[in-house]
Amino acid sequence: MAARIDIPLASLTAKPAGAPAGRDASPAHARSFYIETFGCQMNAHDSEKVAGLLLARGYRQVESPESAEMVLFNTCSIREKAAQKVFTRLNDFRGPRGQSKIVGVLGCVAQQEGERIFERAPWVRMVCGSASYRNLPELLAEIEAGDTRVTGLNLDTAETFETEVTRRDNPFRAYLTVIEGCDYACSYCVVPHTRGPQRSRASDAVLDEVRHLVQNGFTEVQLLGQTVNSYRDPSAAGMNFAQLLRAVAAVVGIRRVRFTTSHPNDFTPEIVHAIDSTPALCDHIHLPVQSGSNRVLKQMRRTYSRAEYLEKIEWIRAAQRRSSVTTDIIVGFPGETDPEFAETISLLDEVKFDGVFAFKYSPRPNTTAKDMTDPVPEEVKSQRLAFLQQRQREIQISRNQTFLGSEFEVLVDGRHESRGQWSGRTTSNRIVNFASPAENLLGQYCQVKITGAGPNSLVGEQCG
Ligand code: 5AD
Ligand code: SF4
Repeated sequence: MAARIDIPLASLTAKPAGAPAGRDASPAHARSFYIETFGCQMNAHDSEKVAGLLLARGYRQVESPESAEMVLFNTCSIREKAAQKVFTRLNDFRGPRGQSKIVGVLGCVAQQEGERIFERAPWVRMVCGSASYRNLPELLAEIEAGDTRVTGLNLDTAETFETEVTRRDNPFRAYLTVIEGCDYACSYCVVPHTRGPQRSRASDAVLDEVRHLVQNGFTEVQLLGQTVNSYRDPSAAGMNFAQLLRAVAAVVGIRRVRFTTSHPNDFTPEIVHAIDSTPALCDHIHLPVQSGSNRVLKQMRRTYSRAEYLEKIEWIRAAQRRSSVTTDIIVGFPGETDPEFAETISLLDEVKFDGVFAFKYSPRPNTTAKDMTDPVPEEVKSQRLAFLQQRQREIQISRNQTFLGSEFEVLVDGRHESRGQWSGRTTSNRIVNFASPAENLLGQYCQVKITGAGPNSLVGEQCG
C-alpha cells in the first residue's frame, strides 16, 4: 500500500510525533461530517478508517451532528436493544432537522436491515454494511454527484477494508484489524450474517502498518478480529496467529501487543508459549465461554465442551506469566434450565475470571436460535443475570485483593481531576488509578505500587 497517514485526535496532549495536523488539516470549505459509533471495538476502529477515508477526500470532521452536512451512524445489531437504539437515533433526524443533511447508516444494522432502512427512515440517503466499506469511495462519489439513495450491501466478499488514512481516536493504543468476518455459526449470533465470511489480512500489510504506527509515536497496538486467533496469513509467509503475534511484538518500538477476541476452538498452546516468552505480548486473554453447560454449548453450536474449555484455561494457568482471563457469558439461552445455569456459575467459581461480560440472550434475525422454543420467562433470565453479576463481583474483589503490595507497569491514559489521580492500564488490562506529584503523565509508562483494590480497578502510588 502507498504511504499511510494516521491522523491523531488533535485535542489530546500526547500527540504522536511527526503525525499530520489532525482534523484541522482539511480546508475550511470542505464538506463536514459527523460519525457516531455503536458497539464493539471492531466498529470503533471501522469508524476511524471511515473517518480517515472521508478526511482524505477533503471532508472535515466535526463534533456535533448539528454542524455536519453528513451524519453517519456506525451501527451494532448484536442484541435487539443495540439495534433499536439506532432507529431511535435516526428518528431524531426526521423532518427539517434531517432534510438538509446526508444521513447514512453503516455497519451491522445496515447489513441486517438493508434497504428496509429506507422504508423505516426515508430521510436516510446511504446504507452500507461493513463488508462493503471498500466501495465507500464510489458510494461517496454517487452521493456527491447528487444521487438520492446509495447502498453497499455486498456480503459475498473475499476483501478486507484497508485505508491509506486512518483517524486515530485513541492516542495511546492503536487498533488494527487483522481478520474480518466470521466462519463460525453460533446459533445465537448475527455476526456471520452482518460481517460476512472470515478473511485475514496479509502479514506483511499488518507488519507495515505496525511499523508505521511506531513511526507515529504509538507503542501499544491491539489486533482485532471477531475470532482474531483464527488468523491465517493468505500470503506466502503463511503465518498462524501465534507467529503473527511474535512478529508484531518483534517490531522495534512496540512495547505492548493486545488482541481480541479469541475463539476457544482456535486457542492453541502455541499462543500461550508466545505470550510466556515475549514480554511485549500482553498477559491478557479474552476467551468467551458463553455457558458452562455442555447441552447449552451444543445448542449454541460453540464447537467445544466445558472440559475442552477448561483444558485451555489449564494451559494458561500452567504458564510462567499470570495472565488475566476474561470472558463473555449469555444467560437465558432458549431452554436453559436452573441446573444448566448452575453449571455456568460453577464454571465461574472454578475459573475465577478477572472480568466477565454477561448478557441476557436476545433473539436475532437470521440466526437459528431465533426459532427455538423458549420456556424461560424473561423475569427468570433477569434474575439469573443479576445473580451471576453479583457472584462475579465477589470473585473479582477477592482476586484483586491478591495484588495488594504488587508493582505493575502502567501506561497512563487518563486523569481524574476531582480525585487528583492518574489512570492507566497494566499489561493484563487492569485499570489502576494512582497518585503522583508529576504534572503530566499522559502517554507515559509508570511503575505503580498497589495499595487498594475494588471489583473493577486497583488503586496505587507511583513508585518509579
Ligand atoms: N444475545 C445475547 N448476547 C449475544 N452475544 C452475541 N449474540 C448475542 C445474542 N443474540 C454476546 C456473546 C458475544 C458477545 C460479543 O455478545 O457473548 O461473545
Ligand atoms: Fe458470533 Fe460465534 Fe462468530 Fe463469535 S464465533 S462472531 S459469537 S458466530
